[in-house]
Amino acid sequence: MGDVEGLKAQLEELKVEALTAFGHAQNVADLEDLRVNYLGKKGALTLILKGVGKLSAEDRPMIGQHVNAVKDALSDALDRVGSALSKLAQQQRIEAERIDVTMPARRRIAGVIHPVQQGLNEMTAIFAHMGFDISEGPEIEDEFHNFDALNIPESHPARAMHDTFFIDALADAPMLLRTHTSPVQIRTMKKFLESGQEPPLSVVAPGRVYRCDYDVTHSPMFHQVEVFSVDRGLSLAHLKGVLQHFLTTYFEKDLPIRLRPHYFPFTEPSAEVDIGCVFCAGQGCRICKGSGWIEVLGSGMVHPNVLKAVGIDAQAFSGFAFGLGVERLVMLKHGIPDLRLFFENDVRFLRRMGA
Ligand code: DAH
Repeated sequence: MGDVEGLKAQLEELKVEALTAFGHAQNVADLEDLRVNYLGKKGALTLILKGVGKLSAEDRPMIGQHVNAVKDALSDALDRVGSALSKLAQQQRIEAERIDVTMPARRRIAGVIHPVQQGLNEMTAIFAHMGFDISEGPEIEDEFHNFDALNIPESHPARAMHDTFFIDALADAPMLLRTHTSPVQIRTMKKFLESGQEPPLSVVAPGRVYRCDYDVTHSPMFHQVEVFSVDRGLSLAHLKGVLQHFLTTYFEKDLPIRLRPHYFPFTEPSAEVDIGCVFCAGQGCRICKGSGWIEVLGSGMVHPNVLKAVGIDAQAFSGFAFGLGVERLVMLKHGIPDLRLFFENDVRFLRRMGA
């Protein structure tokens, strides 16, 4: 009988202890630990149950009832405290994740295309619309493509004037950063012929070029667009027509253009191309130095030696070509005074001028 009373007392003590502990649980996880401690397979209540086996047959049912009652009481308490705790947790989460819908939205800053890239895109598109293919060449070139094949032999002063960045100038076959996009003429024509095709061939070649030079109007890296066309019977008239269309389209106004005799090794005859000053409409101003004209690019009829260098019959075919500085044209179109603005990457400038 003493055992029965002892067990009852133990059960009662356990119940009080467990309920107190449940009441102090801070969260659902703590409560789960307590459930395991008291009601689990190795829990305190189970331990007491083991004592029941030692009791006499008539005492067992009575204690069994007690045990079940305590079990029920603890389960009920667990349910109650559990749902209270999870409700509390939910409220805390809602509080923590509350959004102030009246707060000003964070500004999303959209990127813009760099004004030089934008210019390149516009120019390339104009030629693409005229039916020119777009071609590109490597920025690291050899002397053959950058100079020799373009009729600029070793001894030629133009070769020294190009302010070339050489890569290992002392090597047997030194490589260099291309000083212009004209080598793309050579590479494209060779590839075209190698693929078994015959002119006509009309190409626009945009890209980066490099010269060892830096001031208000020169940057060691800048961009050019090279344009050329080879066919039977091409003349200066075709050159001038393409130039006229390109320049009036790019500047979005009817501009007078003029071809001024000049010299380039890779064209004969050669001409520099002027447009009527976009700032004073040809009246004469500070920017055109009173002449009413602004020089925009170099051009000419492809030199027979260049056609020969790639294996085109210079008797049967002729070509025109020109090359322009992209930064220069973008500056003229938008009235940008200093080339260095393009490369300083002041976002206020880029955002205003970019597209
Ligand atoms: N390659 C020349 C330069 O960078 C520009 C040029 C002039 C290209 C006349 C041409 C041309 O195709 O016909 O100074």
